[in-house]
Amino acid sequence: MRIGASQPHDKLEALREMRVIAIDGPAGSGKSSVAQALAARLGLEYLDTGAMYRAVTFAVLRAGGDPSDSGFTAAVARTIDVRVTGERVLVDGVDATVEIRSPSVDRAVSVVAANAEVRAEMVARQREWARRRDGGVVEGRDIGTVVFPEADLKVYLKADPDVRALRRARQSGALDHTAEAGAVESVAADLARRDTIDSTRQAGPLSVASDAVVIDTTEKTFDETIEQILGLV
Ligand code: DC
Repeated sequence: MRIGASQPHDKLEALREMRVIAIDGPAGSGKSSVAQALAARLGLEYLDTGAMYRAVTFAVLRAGGDPSDSGFTAAVARTIDVRVTGERVLVDGVDATVEIRSPSVDRAVSVVAANAEVRAEMVARQREWARRRDGGVVEGRDIGTVVFPEADLKVYLKADPDVRALRRARQSGALDHTAEAGAVESVAADLARRDTIDSTRQAGPLSVASDAVVIDTTEKTFDETIEQILGLV
């Protein structure tokens, strides 16, 4: 799957015909695993839009650029070739599956994702991705609010910050290396910092669409969440 460069005449009209399920929420709310499982159950393709912002960040850092240099970062976003196949992410032909999840990308990605020109380019590519497939399950922060305001179903997943930090620490393997409390604390601090930047930025901030179904996954098992969303579908 190639997430190609934007089309000049990207029309929201065409998007109305498609079947899009939008899954939004903060890091650690369970979005990725829920979106992947839903896509598999429904026979739809899945797009992790966070991986796209991470890919741009990786490319900027690899080029020795400063992610807060908005002109340079926007130029990288417009020219980068991003291919996502399942979990695998190729950036300009280089396998960056592991690197896009590295601490250096974690630190810089919110600044890149707050860049309005980067967002315009990524949003256009996300719409093009869905148009080519007649829809899909798309996961991110602004999917129901900005990218697909006409999505058939919008789900906003949330969870208590402590639970989100614990999930992220487990995912990244941080608990294998450090004393448990310390590892979770540092992940929690990073999540809180990113939540603030993601929800207070001007362009496409993390927010709940007025017609989204909000699901709190704090006390829910994975299967309970999936069944609840399938019930909505
Ligand atoms: O979901 P994630 O942690 O991989 O997302 C990485 C960053 O990208 C995070 O800071 C939020 C941002 N992001 C965004 O701004 N818009 C999206 N649609 C998806 C992710």
